[in-house]
Amino acid sequence: MKKINSLILILSLGLASSVSAQKKTIDQRVDSVMKLMTLKEKVGQLNQYSGREVTGPSSDRKNYLLNDIKNGMVGSMLNVKGVKDTREIQAIALQSRLKIPMLFSLDVIHGYKTVFPIPLAESASWDIDAIRATAHVAAAEAAASGIHWTFAPMVDIARDPRWGRVMEGAGEDTYLGSVIARARVLGFQGNKLGAVDGIMACAKHFAAYGASMAGRDYNPVDMSEQQLHEIYLPPFKAAADAGVATFMNSFNTLNGIPATGNSYLQRDILKGAWGYKGFVVSDWGSIKEMLPWGFATDLNEAAKFAIEAGSDMDMESEAYKKELESLIKSGNVNVKVADDAVRRILYKKFELGLFDDPYKFSDEKREAKVMNDPSYQKIALAAAQKSIVLLKNKANILPLQKSMQRIALIGPLVNAKRDQAGSWVVYADTANIVSVNEGMRAKFGNAQFSYSEGTSITDTSTVGFNMAITTAKNADVVVMVLGENWDMSGESKSRTDISLPGKQEELFNAIKATGKPVVVVMMAGRPLVFNNIADKADAIVYAWFLGDQGGNAIADVLSGDYNPSGKLPMSFPRNVGQIPIFYNHYNTGRPVTKSNDIRYKSAYIDSPNDPRFAFGYGLSYTSFAYSDLKLAQASVIKGQTMKLSFTLTNTGKVTGEEVAQLYIQDKVASLVRPVKELKDFAKVKLNSGESKVINFELTPAKLAFYKEKFGWITEPGIFKVMIGGSSDEIKLEGDFKLR
Ligand code: GLC
Repeated sequence: MKKINSLILILSLGLASSVSAQKKTIDQRVDSVMKLMTLKEKVGQLNQYSGREVTGPSSDRKNYLLNDIKNGMVGSMLNVKGVKDTREIQAIALQSRLKIPMLFSLDVIHGYKTVFPIPLAESASWDIDAIRATAHVAAAEAAASGIHWTFAPMVDIARDPRWGRVMEGAGEDTYLGSVIARARVLGFQGNKLGAVDGIMACAKHFAAYGASMAGRDYNPVDMSEQQLHEIYLPPFKAAADAGVATFMNSFNTLNGIPATGNSYLQRDILKGAWGYKGFVVSDWGSIKEMLPWGFATDLNEAAKFAIEAGSDMDMESEAYKKELESLIKSGNVNVKVADDAVRRILYKKFELGLFDDPYKFSDEKREAKVMNDPSYQKIALAAAQKSIVLLKNKANILPLQKSMQRIALIGPLVNAKRDQAGSWVVYADTANIVSVNEGMRAKFGNAQFSYSEGTSITDTSTVGFNMAITTAKNADVVVMVLGENWDMSGESKSRTDISLPGKQEELFNAIKATGKPVVVVMMAGRPLVFNNIADKADAIVYAWFLGDQGGNAIADVLSGDYNPSGKLPMSFPRNVGQIPIFYNHYNTGRPVTKSNDIRYKSAYIDSPNDPRFAFGYGLSYTSFAYSDLKLAQASVIKGQTMKLSFTLTNTGKVTGEEVAQLYIQDKVASLVRPVKELKDFAKVKLNSGESKVINFELTPAKLAFYKEKFGWITEPGIFKVMIGGSSDEIKLEGDFKLR
C-alpha cells in the first residue's frame, strides 16, 4: 500500500511540475491526497475541536480528543497554543494513516502576547496603516507560537451599542468597516500565506450578526435583501477581495434561516456570486444550535442542512463526525458536497506549507525571539495614542501643564490593568499593561499625585466618597477614570442599560461639587450614555480599552505629548431609547427642520433625534479649516469617476492630525437614500499654519446603491458632496450631476 501511495504522490507531483502556476500544483497535490482518503478520513477533516484539555491532565475528554486526533478524525483544533503544545498535538495527528497535518486556530482578535487596543478603539484611529501594523504583529507572535489561523477580523456592522460585541468590530459604517476589514486581513495574512510571520484570517460572522434583534446576542436578524447587501455584506466582500483565507458563519438566523444552514448566504452569495475559494467554519456549535432554533429535528438533519448550505468545517458540534458518513453512505448527502469542503480545507493546509513541514510554525527559537520583541510595545503605544477620542475640552483645560500640578486620580479604573486589555485576550499575561496611575506618574514627574478609588465599578455604596472628596479638595485638578470593566462587553455581554455601572455618576457629581476642574477618562468596550458627565465635566477623553500601553497613551494625551486625533466609529446615543441610531439615516417624509418644531415630525417628544456625540466626531488640541472645494467637473457620465479636492489648514498653534471625511447624498433615486454616506476619508498630519490640498475620488462604485432584483446600480441625478471633520460638522458642500 505504502509503495502505491508514494507512486501516486510522485506521479501527481511529476504531472504537477509541468504546470506553471503554484495554484495548479496545490490543486494537483490536493487531488492526490483526496484519492487516498476514505470517507471517514474526509469527514475527519471537517471536524474541529476546542482543545484546552488536550494538553492538560489526564481526563476522559482528553482521551476522547487524543483518540480522534490519532485516528485522523480531527482536521483542526482551536485553543491549543504555544510551540510545545502544538508540536505535541501535531505529532499525534501525524500518527494517523495519511499523516494529514492539523490546523491550529485561536481567537487572536487584538493581539496575541502584545495586547493592542480593542478593535473598536483601533477603528476610532481611522489610521489604516496602524491597524494593519497591529494585525501583523499579532500574526507574527501567534505564528511563532504554532498558530496557523485566527478567528479575526470580526467585520460585523453594528448600530446597536447594547450588543456587547461592538467592541470587536469597526462600528456602524460600511465604508470605514470595509477599509478596515481589508487592512486587518492583509495585516494578519501578509502578502502570501505560508510565511512564518503570517496566519490565516477569518472574516466573521457571516452574516449580519451585528443586527441581532434588540442588541441581544444570539438573537434573530430580520432585514431586507437591500439592507443586507448595502450595509452588512460589503465588509465581508472587502475581506474576500483582500484574499481572506476563511469565513466564519454566525449564530443568528437571517430572515428565519440560521446562517449556518443558509445556502443563500454561503452558496449563492459567498461561494457563488463572489466565487469564494476559501472555506467556511461554523461558529462554536452553531450547527447543533439548529435544533434549539427549531430548524433541524436532530443532529443528522442539522449536519445535512449545514454541509449542503456550505458550512465546510464543524466547530464543536460533532455533527459531521457523528452523522456525515452515514448521510453520504445512505445517499442522503452527495459525496461531492463533502469533497468540496475537504478540498477547500486541504488547499489551505498546502498553502500554509504544512504538508511539507507540519512543524514549520512551531519553532522554539523563533517563539522565544518574536515574543519579546521590544518594538511591539512601540507599535502598541502608537495604536493606543491614535485610538483615543477627545470628546470635550472646555476652556482648553487640556493638555494639563506638566509643572506645579497637584493631580488627584480618582475612580475605579485608575489602577486598571486587566480591564484595559478588554475582552478577547488569549494570553492571560497582563504584566505589560500600564495603568493610568503608572502612566501619569511617569509622565508628570514633577506633579504631586494623590489617589482615591471612590467607588468600584459595580459598587452600590458611597462609603468611599468622603475620602475621594477630600482627595479632590487637596488637588488643583482631578482626573477621574470611569467606565465599564472588561467583562461588560464582548460575547454574550449585551446590556439593556448602557450608562455607567454602579455609583460612578454619583461619585462624579460629588467630585464636581468640590468646584475643582474635572477631566474624565472613560474606558469601555462600547458607546456609553453619560449625559450628566458630558454636560458637567471640563474635559472628556474616550479611551475604550487600549491594551498594554493604555496608561502611557492616556498620559501622552493629557500632557499634550500626543495631540488626540481619534474620531468616533459609532454614534453615541443620548439614551438607549434612541437605539438603533446611526448617522446614515433617512430623511423621512417629515424631517425635523427646526429643533423646537417637532409636531407631526419624525421625532421623539422626550429626546432630540441626534446623538450625544456623532459618528466621525473627535476634537484636537489644534483646529483645522476646510476651504477651496473643487469638483473636476459639474457632471459625470455613468462609469466615470468624479475627482474633487479641497484645502485643509491647521489654524491652531500645535501640530495635529485631522481625519477629513467625504460624504455624499444621492438626492433623488428610485429607492430613498440616506442623508449622507461616508465614501472616503484621509488622516492628515499638519504643522501649525500648514495647508495641504487633499484629493478624493468618487468612483462609479461609490455612487451605486443596491436594489433588489437589479443588484448594484447607479441612477442619473444630483449628488451632494459634503466634507468635514465629523458627520455632523460639514465644512464644505457642493454638488454634481450624474448623467
Ligand atoms: C465564539 C465566537 C466566535 C469565536 C469562536 C471560537 O462563540 O462567536 O467569534 O471565534 O466562538 O472561540
